[in-house]
Amino acid sequence: MAQKLYIKTFGCQMNEYDSARIADALALSHDLELTTQAEEADVLLLNTCSVREKAQEKVFSHLGRWRQWKSRRPDLVLGVGGCVASQEGDAIRQRAPYVDIVFGPQTLHRLPGMLDEVRRKQLPVIDISFPEIEKFDCLPEPRAQGPTAYVSVMEGCSKYCTFCVVPYTRGEEVSRPLDDVISEVASLARQNVREVTLLGQNVNAYCGRMGEDGESDLALLIEYLTAIDGIDRIRFTTSHPREFGPSLIKAYKDIAALASHVHLPVQSGSDRILTQMKRGHTVLEYKSTIRQIRVARPGISISSDFIIGFPGETDADFLATMSLIDELEFDHSYSFIYSPRPGTPAAGMPDDVPHEVKQLRLKQLQTRISELAAAYSQAMVGSVQHVLVEGISRKSEQQLTGRTSNNRSVNFTGPQDLIGNFVDIEITEALPNSLRGVMLQNHHNTLVNQSVNWS
Ligand code: SAM
Ligand code: F3S
Repeated sequence: MAQKLYIKTFGCQMNEYDSARIADALALSHDLELTTQAEEADVLLLNTCSVREKAQEKVFSHLGRWRQWKSRRPDLVLGVGGCVASQEGDAIRQRAPYVDIVFGPQTLHRLPGMLDEVRRKQLPVIDISFPEIEKFDCLPEPRAQGPTAYVSVMEGCSKYCTFCVVPYTRGEEVSRPLDDVISEVASLARQNVREVTLLGQNVNAYCGRMGEDGESDLALLIEYLTAIDGIDRIRFTTSHPREFGPSLIKAYKDIAALASHVHLPVQSGSDRILTQMKRGHTVLEYKSTIRQIRVARPGISISSDFIIGFPGETDADFLATMSLIDELEFDHSYSFIYSPRPGTPAAGMPDDVPHEVKQLRLKQLQTRISELAAAYSQAMVGSVQHVLVEGISRKSEQQLTGRTSNNRSVNFTGPQDLIGNFVDIEITEALPNSLRGVMLQNHHNTLVNQSVNWS
């Protein structure tokens, strides 16, 4: 019987993508079968995130549980990868010496070899080096898990915002060559993928080698990808405001396949705080970018990330963030209380905002964002949305679930053979986290792609 692999993933979509690739690699090399039941696994991996402290602490509570299992089954192999491993590899070995493998975001393709070594030598293996883009050359072709897929196009970050660990854990920005990305997306399209999300910590900094001595930016990459048969919708995340240049803005005008949603983290609406954060742009510049995107693609949904309680944030700074939210009418967004990260410049700044104040500000901001998002959803009631049917709804076997261009989940009644197709749905109801709708009748039988089998 095949041995089983369990992977617990924390953090961003990059980590989800990495975990999927780890599963592909270990399936090929060791015939390991992925399971969602940690108790039945022979190899247990944690793919970690260290962007905020909370995520980091979860690593050790998981390891504590797995340690007990290992004391009963010494043949279990435990591994820790991702950003915590990258930053604290040695600390993990000290705090949890029973861990067999420590690997970083750039060395996950070496896992098959590391697993062999652990089993052969019965000694722990650690590899958290940064061998640049080598991993993509060593990983097998991705296996599609449904009609949507993530594709990593660049790694790392060279922006060094004062609060962020990513440049230290994932290294500097490196882009995959254009041809590699195209062939990965073409392979996914052959497996009936219809929508891809291009991933990178600063995905719009993409600058991939093209041919012998050319370079492609993100807009050109997107243009090439739209030419691939079957790929009908493209998203990308996460972008940095500094690199949202004219070619990418123009893409929203020219490329219909580009989804009507941009996630563009601003972090704060105060120039003083943006400078302290070393974000490299002003509030006015950010607003100008958003205005241009909205001219290029009227009605586009814009979401953002906010950090609350950055060292020295005053009431006036916070109010500036709230006015920006009102002025730009952001859609669903992410907001976090500032978490000092060891080794980052901001960790040395006096953190003088009381925790209760940070919590109150966070609540106020989240309430406003939720009101705006609810208003957007409500305004969609009565409209017809082009929805990619992703699968059966989690709530009911009779319902299908899909996603609109502006990134909202829609549930509706329909036959399962529509999964993997685009259908037009009239939105009938807006709920807090999803929409309900009815399928326009003319669709069935004309759109169904009979060959699709999402087993
Ligand atoms: N590249 C993106 C950008 O342009 O900002 C951000 C990627 S970062 C890994 C994801 C989000 O985590 C950030 O936008 C920020 O809001 C949040 N984040 C990062 N470091 C943080 C910290 N020390 N405390 C709280 N939130 C943090
Ligand atoms: Fe982090 Fe700033 Fe880069 S938030 S990922 S250092 S753009």
